[in-house]
Amino acid sequence: MKLTVTAARKEPGDVLVIDLKHTRKPLLPPFEPGSHVDVHLPDGKVRQYSLCGDPTDLSRYTIAVKREDVGRGGSAWIHDAVAVGCTLPVSAPRNHFPLAQREGPTVLLAGGIGITPILAMARALERQGKPYKLHYFTRSRALMPLLSVIERELDCSTVWLHFDDEPETREDLEALLSTPSSDAQLYYCGPPGFMAAVDRATAHWPEGTVHFEAFQPPEHNDAPPEPFTITLRDGTVVPVAADTSALAALRAAGVLLMASCENGVCGTCECGILEGQPIHRDAVLSKEARTHRFIPCISRATGVLRLDL
Ligand code: FES
Repeated sequence: MKLTVTAARKEPGDVLVIDLKHTRKPLLPPFEPGSHVDVHLPDGKVRQYSLCGDPTDLSRYTIAVKREDVGRGGSAWIHDAVAVGCTLPVSAPRNHFPLAQREGPTVLLAGGIGITPILAMARALERQGKPYKLHYFTRSRALMPLLSVIERELDCSTVWLHFDDEPETREDLEALLSTPSSDAQLYYCGPPGFMAAVDRATAHWPEGTVHFEAFQPPEHNDAPPEPFTITLRDGTVVPVAADTSALAALRAAGVLLMASCENGVCGTCECGILEGQPIHRDAVLSKEARTHRFIPCISRATGVLRLDL
């Protein structure tokens, strides 16, 4: 869809909040909390942004973009070039971070710009009258995006704000998450350090109760990439050089694979593993999925990996 920017406002934390509307259609395709859209940039790159607006208001989509000067350039371009009246190519919404329809309590954890999908979830739970707690962490109050929206739209008795520079508000994640209630579901999103900390603190939570969405793949300090080999169902052998992704090697061999972020965070390129030892580097697959699924845009393998392609 070609959508027009109808509003753009700055939020704390170097975040730009953008409203997008269709010029001819009054309603956009529906979306659920946790959904994102792909925004296509002029250099051909694609970036994913969570929809943080109200799913019951389909007259517009709202995204919030944090400027990442050390990132891959997409957010800086949006901050510098996007203004009211611009047109942006935007995909229909997709959801890799759905909110399960359960009656038990929900714990929502957001770090910084990770509030975008979490805010949509909190709004939906509040509207459904379901019990939830939102813990929102930033370095300081002055860097907390969308705080005014939270204060305006959510029940303040269900929201806890935590600031690194206000000791009385700090919360220890290990202590907060030490005792999962049997029917609770937990959703979290934030920058890599926050994701790693919540991952550690929830290692003992029951399988299937912890859900996350990451904006970047986790950092790996292991050895430099090694070449490996992929074999396909028809026996085709695809060598993957050390400086090439499995996705690029598969495409060069004529395998048609959809891809979007090419950074291990969206799940578009996911495929099945039949045999072999993958080295997972993505931020999409659950522990269970890692036993039989593979993200070829970023993950690698040792030796020979047989894929279900
Ligand atoms: S293209 Fe997004 S995870 Fe591979």
